[in-house]
Amino acid sequence: MIADTPGARIEGTSAYSVSEQRWLEQAAKEEADRDGGSKSAILADYQRRLDAGEPLQYVLGSWQFRWLELRVDSRALIPRPETELIVDLIMAALGDVRSGKVLELGTGSGAIAASIAFECPDLVLVATDSSADALALAEMNLVSCGVDDRVTLRLGDWWEAVDTDERFRLICSNPPYIAEAEWLGLDAVVRDWEPQGALLAGRTGLECYQVIFGQAHRYLEEGRGVVVVEIGATQGGDVQQIAMAAGFDDVSLSQDLVGRDRFVVARG
Ligand SMILES: C[S@@+](CC[C@H](N)C(=O)[O-])C[C@H]1O[C@@H](n2cnc3c(N)ncnc32)[C@H](O)[C@@H]1O
Repeated sequence: MIADTPGARIEGTSAYSVSEQRWLEQAAKEEADRDGGSKSAILADYQRRLDAGEPLQYVLGSWQFRWLELRVDSRALIPRPETELIVDLIMAALGDVRSGKVLELGTGSGAIAASIAFECPDLVLVATDSSADALALAEMNLVSCGVDDRVTLRLGDWWEAVDTDERFRLICSNPPYIAEAEWLGLDAVVRDWEPQGALLAGRTGLECYQVIFGQAHRYLEEGRGVVVVEIGATQGGDVQQIAMAAGFDDVSLSQDLVGRDRFVVARG
């Protein structure tokens, strides 16, 4: 769940866990070694930012996602640990033939696209986002991960960023899925610091799935293929329905590590 971000703290407390303290000290040392300045002053600044409620990952400036160390900052959503699982589902859906072209809609920091490219060296990808800021961050990550030659970034609103004659073996997305009524209930560390456009979908929370599944067939090779999406934990049935209504005849749910329905894999 979006609210389960590492670094979220119990409201009203400012104590750091041992791991947080270790990460902060390591990052402060690296920054002092790299840019000069006093490690203790840098650490004090990090702690001030954490105490003000900023997510740990933004303070550290980088975060691990699968095999990659990604730069993270307020331009894009912090890649969540459960999102690592969508990469496994994508690779399983591709089977033994891990070549061809894959599309990711809403790439944010580029975590999913960079991981697929890194772990499948014969694949090429197109990764889109409606946020130019997020794409600038994704570009930095693609370069630092050495996969920028196989991932093309595009700016635009969902399918508008894709050429009408492009076709893909597989389409994936972790789109915004928070409903308007849920917004105020999100953890403050998420709601007040991460980009609203990466989280909030609309009145029902299902709006992005309707757009994505609504046109996916048009962009799949020979009009058939696989779409893999991350979903909110209560959205499984609704997103299954949306995929089936869009003509996918084999639609299954997959779970995260604690057994919640968090992914839809649609074929057909
Ligand atoms: C939940 S975030 C996922 C980011 C990243 N893929 C991840 O898993 O960490 C959703 C992403 O979709 C993008 N997005 C929101 N509305 C969009 C739209 N209309 N067209 C394209 N991308 C959009 C946001 O900017 C954000 O980067």
